[in-house]
Amino acid sequence: MLIAQVTDCHIRDRDTSFGRLVDTTETLRRVVDHLLGLDSAPDVVLATGDLTDDGTPAQYATLRDILAPLDDRLVPLPGNHDEEPAFRLAFADLLPDDLPDGHCSYVVDDHPIRLVGLDTTLPGRHDGRFDTEREAWLDGVLAAEPDRPTAIFTHFPPFETGLRFMDLAGLLDADRLRATIERHPQVRLLTCGHLHRPIQTAIGAALATTCPSTGNQLGLDLDSDRAGAVDEPPAYQLHRWDGERFATHTGTVRDPAAVRTVDLSSYAAEVRRRHAAGEPFTKA
Ligand SMILES: [Fe+2]
Ligand SMILES: [Fe+2]
Repeated sequence: MLIAQVTDCHIRDRDTSFGRLVDTTETLRRVVDHLLGLDSAPDVVLATGDLTDDGTPAQYATLRDILAPLDDRLVPLPGNHDEEPAFRLAFADLLPDDLPDGHCSYVVDDHPIRLVGLDTTLPGRHDGRFDTEREAWLDGVLAAEPDRPTAIFTHFPPFETGLRFMDLAGLLDADRLRATIERHPQVRLLTCGHLHRPIQTAIGAALATTCPSTGNQLGLDLDSDRAGAVDEPPAYQLHRWDGERFATHTGTVRDPAAVRTVDLSSYAAEVRRRHAAGEPFTKA
């Protein structure tokens, strides 16, 4: 199963310093085009929050227009820049009718991997919360299917990253979420947004990762009081499940005219030939 992830699209329609750095509408269009052109089409596309900058209906309309070619493969979740009820109204056709009170968390059960969307956003806040009500919801969902490999997707990563200003205004109760995941070893992937960078660690039996933004990234400046956004390329992740484990790839989307390549197809053909013939990969 192939799970694509886009995050922190920050569709905006007003002038901001971030907006002068990157046109997030244009970069999201490029990322969607890129995903549609992949030889291996993703089975689902997770969209893990901050999908708009201000959560206005107009921004959601632009977002849905750009994401339309992904059709019902899209699996959306809000981030701290999204707003209720505009988010639920914008994605009413893709969200279940029986969402829990107070958070937009839900399960997608149609695939070899069970997908659990966990909403930890709070109204009017830029930090997030995994309170005892959300813990009870997640514990119940995971206890119902202990033998099915499961991926949790959420906006805030429940681990310290070293990007200090993001860690300080991150997920309250991160230790509670980590402990919940550790109680359920069928959770093999926890994938998040919010950090605008690719960052990996381990929690229990799960690879825990943050996906970079389809717009601007944050500068890699650890344990510092400095903070900045950078125009590193728009990006996405592909989480490939082979039946035993996930391998997570981070892809960037640059202007095709600026990408230089070397054709390795004849080398790849020789590798396939030797593999099929059982020949060793000796040098020269
Ligand atoms: Fe964001
Ligand atoms: Fe965020």
